[in-house]
Amino acid sequence: MRIVLVGGTGFIGSAMARAWVQSHTVLTLTRNPEEARRKLLETVQPVYWDGRTLGDWVQTLGTADVVVNLTGESIAQRWTPEVKRRLVSSRVETTRLLVEALQGLSARPAVWLQASAIGIYDQNPDTVADESSPPGRGFLAELGVAWEAAARPVEALGVRLCYMRIGVVLGAGGGALERMLLPFKLGVGGPIGSGKQWLSWVHIDDVVGAAQFLIERNDLSGAFNFTAPNPVTMAEFARTLGRVLLRPSFVRAPAFALRLMLGEMADSLLQGSRVLPKRLLEAGYAFRYPELEPALRAVLEA
Ligand SMILES: NC(=O)c1ccc[n+]([C@@H]2O[C@H](COP(=O)([O-])OP(=O)(O)OC[C@H]3O[C@@H](n4cnc5c(N)ncnc54)[C@H](OP(=O)(O)O)[C@@H]3O)[C@@H](O)[C@H]2O)c1
Repeated sequence: MRIVLVGGTGFIGSAMARAWVQSHTVLTLTRNPEEARRKLLETVQPVYWDGRTLGDWVQTLGTADVVVNLTGESIAQRWTPEVKRRLVSSRVETTRLLVEALQGLSARPAVWLQASAIGIYDQNPDTVADESSPPGRGFLAELGVAWEAAARPVEALGVRLCYMRIGVVLGAGGGALERMLLPFKLGVGGPIGSGKQWLSWVHIDDVVGAAQFLIERNDLSGAFNFTAPNPVTMAEFARTLGRVLLRPSFVRAPAFALRLMLGEMADSLLQGSRVLPKRLLEAGYAFRYPELEPALRAVLEA
């Protein structure tokens, strides 16, 4: 199979590239092919695109059996109006451009995996969300809705479309865990805010595994929550991380300090959501890491 990763130089994309390059031809559309050559395996072919305009890269899309669209500037920063604009455009406008490119081609991929996020759901400690839950309110939910809508026209082109509504990904060398580790290693780690909010995590191997499952199962389409079957509260997460690292985990990061540092972005950490991977489980996907502690040990003790 020819798999085209868009945003394949990132934390999730590079894990997919490493996993798939043995058995498939993997290409990545990137704004920085030099960096891609440095970061990714030599066997992954970087193809330049600017993420804004049609160009030679369109031909690459036309050769794909599978497209995995992972573009998006990091959410983990203070959301100024300018940053919000970039968070939206790096997801929604890039996706629209890819769709426009596909509309001009006669050859189409069989399947399109579109990144989305569990931020699309209501951030409510008292509810459990699955794929049938309605979108919530606020910036992240609106972003999620617009992001998914941008990819929807590929269905009219006869392409099977699956949305990966990804939770908080735990893996080595990037993502949320890397940012959390320092205070724990310094002995001042602990829950964020009240600790009662839910953290719907997923091990990186299950992000790759579930994506592969969706590629192979051509009877499946629509939205899938990429979260482990056992989300935990922030307090439990901090306790488990402290136990795995053999470090104390009781120093709470107070809500007001986070709001001062991160502004509106802090709310996504302070609220959280309890999300279940109902459709992946119903379809028979077997999670490699359904429980948090083995997942953390696999990342941190590797
Ligand atoms: N990691 C998580 O916990 C998590 C959770 C939920 C959802 N997600 C979503 O999953 C996707 C991949 O996540 P990740 O953690 O792998 O992110 P990442 O490491 O930041 O990688 C994202 C990739 O997107 C590309 N990109 C960024 N801004 C772009 C722009 N303006 N135009 C075109 N390409 C752009 C970059 O590729 P180049 O620099 O090579 O062009 C980058 O490698 C993101 O959309 C993210 O929001 C991630």
